[in-house]
Amino acid sequence: MSESRPAVVIVLAAGEGKRMKSRTPKVLHSLCGRSMLGHALAAAQDLRPERLVVVTGHGRDQVGPEVARLVPDATVVVQDEQLGTGHAVRMVTEAVGAVHGVVVVTYADMPLLRGETLQELVRAHQADGSAVTVLTTMAAEPAGYGRIVRDEGGSLARIVEDRDATSGELGIQEINSGCYAFDGALLLDAIKRVTTDNAQGQEYLTDVIGILRADGHPLGTMLAADSQEIQGVNDRVQLAAARRVLNDRLLTAHMLNGVTVFDPASTWVDVTVTIGQDTEILPNTQLLGATTIGKGAKIGPNVLLEDTAVGDDAVLLNTVSRQASIGAGATLGPSVYLRPETVIGDGAHIGCHVELKRSTIAAGAKVPHLTYVGDATIGMGSNIGAGTIFANYDGAKKHPTTIGEHAFVGSNTVLVAPVTIHDGAYTAAGSVITQDVAAGDLGIARGRQHNSDGWVLRNREETKSALRATQARSGSGKEPQPAAGPPDGQA
Ligand code: UD1
Ligand code: CA
Repeated sequence: MSESRPAVVIVLAAGEGKRMKSRTPKVLHSLCGRSMLGHALAAAQDLRPERLVVVTGHGRDQVGPEVARLVPDATVVVQDEQLGTGHAVRMVTEAVGAVHGVVVVTYADMPLLRGETLQELVRAHQADGSAVTVLTTMAAEPAGYGRIVRDEGGSLARIVEDRDATSGELGIQEINSGCYAFDGALLLDAIKRVTTDNAQGQEYLTDVIGILRADGHPLGTMLAADSQEIQGVNDRVQLAAARRVLNDRLLTAHMLNGVTVFDPASTWVDVTVTIGQDTEILPNTQLLGATTIGKGAKIGPNVLLEDTAVGDDAVLLNTVSRQASIGAGATLGPSVYLRPETVIGDGAHIGCHVELKRSTIAAGAKVPHLTYVGDATIGMGSNIGAGTIFANYDGAKKHPTTIGEHAFVGSNTVLVAPVTIHDGAYTAAGSVITQDVAAGDLGIARGRQHNSDGWVLRNREETKSALRATQARSGSGKEPQPAAGPPDGQA
């Protein structure tokens, strides 16, 4: 195994990426929850190199810290002026010094390249004992790429760049991917001899191939089975295409692991997401960041989860959740919004048009309709009536609300925090609760109802209401009662 471990992997990430038309450096644009640079570094790390070197240039104030965050022990070499891929590698060789072993070079704008493909390249390189092994592929539309020029015997002779190619060479469909495994010592020697004698006046890394051949060294190629892996991303159209491919790859892996995906076209997952067996993902669902989903859950349609943990058998419909956790068997939605630090217990039910922020809902509790819950703790088995507002903010500070176990909050209650509804306590519908309610008590805080006898008959004479009321009063023979509703009337 250590035999196939390269001494150095060099990732070139200094280019500007003009065609992205962005303030963000090209390699920091992301797909499936990871920057292009992140994908390139992940593939490079699969090789377990003794040393990982990243060449930065354009946007290095942003690219450098991203490298440090992702691979803290990577070496960053700054290329002040982008004078070509050969120049970039020369900067590295000057910084790193003598190398014994294999040097792999890749470009940071190939997010679909798999670590396994790089591993195969290194294995092929070591098996052949070549001075360099170039990863190639057959392209239906090779325009823009370097072409693989072979001699009469079919051996690799050199690489010619698109802009320098003859019309005959332009017809070659085998292209240079931009990934190479080199013998380190030979690369160090040859890179010094690369010239700028070409259409772009740049030092081409690809010229090293011709130089090594002229020195009489054996050269090799490895054909990538999947040409999609080789696709570079230069603009946002190619970024979207690459994202689609990567997303399909991730969904395929999930499906083969036992996850049902109804509509792969409208389901998006990040590389970091895990999903348990027999979970169903319904259309229009985005699973982002450190989201984990248990087994047998039903997610979607219309769900967005970011850094959210979902337990087994939970059902989420039309839900947005960020940095929250949802217990096993909980049911959410339609139209639920969980904000950070919300914890939903096992079997809890969160119904239609409910927003929760930094709150803990215990097992089996219910918040079924039209409610805002902020900075609250709701105990086991409690029920929160429709339209309840946890008034947690006094205009200056946030305050907590505590609901005990098996408590009952009447519809349209406003709970003015800080306030506590103790175990088994009730609040009456329509109450504005500003004081704690003790265990077993009913808190009522609203005006009593008064019915004004015959008001409509006196004040709305001749209207349909007045006429109908007159009939009703004579037909029933009943005189209206001036009574209020029951004092503890619940909706
Ligand atoms: C390069 C190859 C071409 C290959 C193609 C594959 C050369 C000369 N040509 O062409 O044979 O088919 O990639 O996509 O290598 N970079 C630096 N410093 C520089 C110049 C480039 O770090 O001075 C980086 C870029 O950020 C990029 C990579 O090297 O990640 C490739 O550079 P780019 O200019 O895009 O090369 P291509 O013209 O695409
Ligand atoms: Ca390119």
